[in-house]
Amino acid sequence: MTATPEMTDTKTVYLKTFGCQMNVLDSDLVQGQLEAMGYRFVDEWETADVILYNTCSVREHAENKVWSRVGELKSHKTKNPHVILGILGCMAERDGKDMVRKHPQVDLLCGPGELDQVPLLIDNAMKTNLEDRGGVRNAKIALQGNTHRRSATYSAAADTLENLDLSRSFSASNHGGAAYVRITRGCNKFCTYCVVPNTRGREVHRHPDHIFEECKKLVEQGVREITLLGQTVNHYHYDVNETVTIEGVHQPQVGQILSPNRGTGGPSPVFSDGVVSFADLLARIHDDIPELERLRFITSLPRDFGNDILQVIKDRPRICRYLHLPVQSGSNRLLKLMNRGYTVEEFKDLIDRVREYLPDAELATDIIVGFPTETDEDQAETAELLRYCRFKNSFIFKYSPRPDTVAITRFDDDVANDVKKFRNNELLGIQAEISQEIHDGYVGKTVPVFVESVSMKTKKAAGNLADTSVTLGWAPEVAKEVTQLAGRTTGDLIVCFDGSADLIGQTIDVEIEKAAPLTLFGKLAEVAKTCE
Ligand code: 5AD
Ligand code: SF4
Repeated sequence: MTATPEMTDTKTVYLKTFGCQMNVLDSDLVQGQLEAMGYRFVDEWETADVILYNTCSVREHAENKVWSRVGELKSHKTKNPHVILGILGCMAERDGKDMVRKHPQVDLLCGPGELDQVPLLIDNAMKTNLEDRGGVRNAKIALQGNTHRRSATYSAAADTLENLDLSRSFSASNHGGAAYVRITRGCNKFCTYCVVPNTRGREVHRHPDHIFEECKKLVEQGVREITLLGQTVNHYHYDVNETVTIEGVHQPQVGQILSPNRGTGGPSPVFSDGVVSFADLLARIHDDIPELERLRFITSLPRDFGNDILQVIKDRPRICRYLHLPVQSGSNRLLKLMNRGYTVEEFKDLIDRVREYLPDAELATDIIVGFPTETDEDQAETAELLRYCRFKNSFIFKYSPRPDTVAITRFDDDVANDVKKFRNNELLGIQAEISQEIHDGYVGKTVPVFVESVSMKTKKAAGNLADTSVTLGWAPEVAKEVTQLAGRTTGDLIVCFDGSADLIGQTIDVEIEKAAPLTLFGKLAEVAKTCE
C-alpha cells in the first residue's frame, strides 16, 4: 500500500454498493483497505467526508439509479466542498469520463480492476481539493482502459491483479460468519448482450495457493461459510507451472518456486504441480479446511460443466447442494444470437446429470426476456424449459441494450417494452407456482440452516430501512433477544424463524412449518422438541 492519507483527524467514509456479489466483495475489500489506514465507515452519507458508490453496468436501470444519486449530491458538494465523491466499479470503467463531464462534482473514478488504487486516489483528491479550492479540479482516475499500469511482466500483472485480494483485512471480512472469495476475475465469454467483458476485462484465474490460503485464514478468523466467486466458476483452470500476464495470457514460467515448502521437507504444498481444475479446487478447500461448515460457489456457465465437479460435490457433504445455472433463454435460435455456446438440449442434459448425481440439489437460473427478435414461440420454449428444469427460483430480466456490446451494434431492440413486461410477468407467474411447489415439499421437514442475519422484517421494525441492499452481517444491538432471523438451507432456500441474534454465523436445525414462493418459515428444532 503506497498511499498514506494526510489526515489531521479521522476521515469518515460512506460506501454504497450496487449490483452483484462481486461488487459486495469488492466493496468489502476497499473498506478493509481504508479502515486499515484509519478511515472510519459511517451509515449516513450526510456526515461523510468521502462518499463512494460502487456501481454496476449490467442493465441500464442499475446505472440510472447511480446517475440520479450523483445528481442529488451536486448541491451537497456545493455546500460542502471538502467532501470527496468517488465512483467505483463498472460504471466508472464504462462511462467514467463522460460522467465527469456531465457531473463535475465527481472527484475520482476507479474501475473494478484497479480498486487497490482507491486509497491513493482519495489521498490525491483531498490534496487537490486543498490546493485548488474554488478552482477547476480534474478528477483522479484509475481505469483498466488506461494503459499506465499495463505491462506483460509477471510482477506487474500479479501486482495489479492480486493486490486487492491479498491485502484483505480479515477481521473486516468476517460478516456474520460468511465471506466471499474470488477465484476468477473478468470474463472472456462475450455473450452478445453483456457488458462485463468490457468493464471487468479478460478472464484471469487466481493462483490456487492464494485462494486456498485466503479461505484458510478466513476460517481461522471465524468464518464458517465461504462462497467462491467468479463469472464462470466451472471454467476455473490454473496451470501452476505457468504464469499469467495482465491480459490473461498464460506464459511458461521457468524455474519459478511456487511454494516456500517445495523441496524443504515441510508439509507438501497444496498445489505444487500440474493443472488445477475447479473440481480440484473445491475438493482441496473442502478436505483440507475441515472447520469450514459450508462451501458454496457462484456462478456457473452451463457450457462445459463436467461430471467431475458433480462427483466432487456428491462425495463432500459440506459443499452446498445449490447450483446457479443461468440459461438466459429456452430457444436455440436466441441462445445462438446470444453467443451462449450451448443448446437447450445440452442444458437439459446438464440438468439431468445434476439430478442424477445430486438428487437433493436446488437450482436457480437467470433469464432475459425480450432479447432482439424474440417471438411468442421463443417465449413458449422458455416457459417449457422452466417447467422442465424446476428451478427453485429464476432471476428474470428485461433485455437492456448495453453500449459497446455486439447485440446493440448488430440487432435492433425490437421487442416493445410492454411485451417485455408481459413476458417477464408470465415467466414470473410460472416460476412462482414451481417455487411454491418446491417449498411445500419442505413443510414438516427439519433442515440445517446457516443463519445469516436478522430478517428484513426485524430490520424494518428496528427502523433500519436504509440498508436494504446488503443483508450479510447486520447485527443490531436492538435485537439481542428473540427476533426474526434469516438463513439459508444447503440448497439456498431462504428460511425465516424466531431466535436470538447470537445464532448468526451458526448452522442450526429448523423445523419448517409454512412455505411461501420465496421463503420458508419455521421454528428452532430444539424448541419443537420441547413442545412435543
Ligand atoms: N439485459 C438484461 N439482462 C442482462 N443480464 C446481463 N446483461 C443483460 C442485459 N444487457 C442478466 C443476465 C445475467 C445477469 C447477471 O444479468 O441474465 O445472467
Ligand atoms: Fe456476461 Fe456471458 Fe460472461 Fe456471464 S458468461 S459475465 S453473461 S459475458
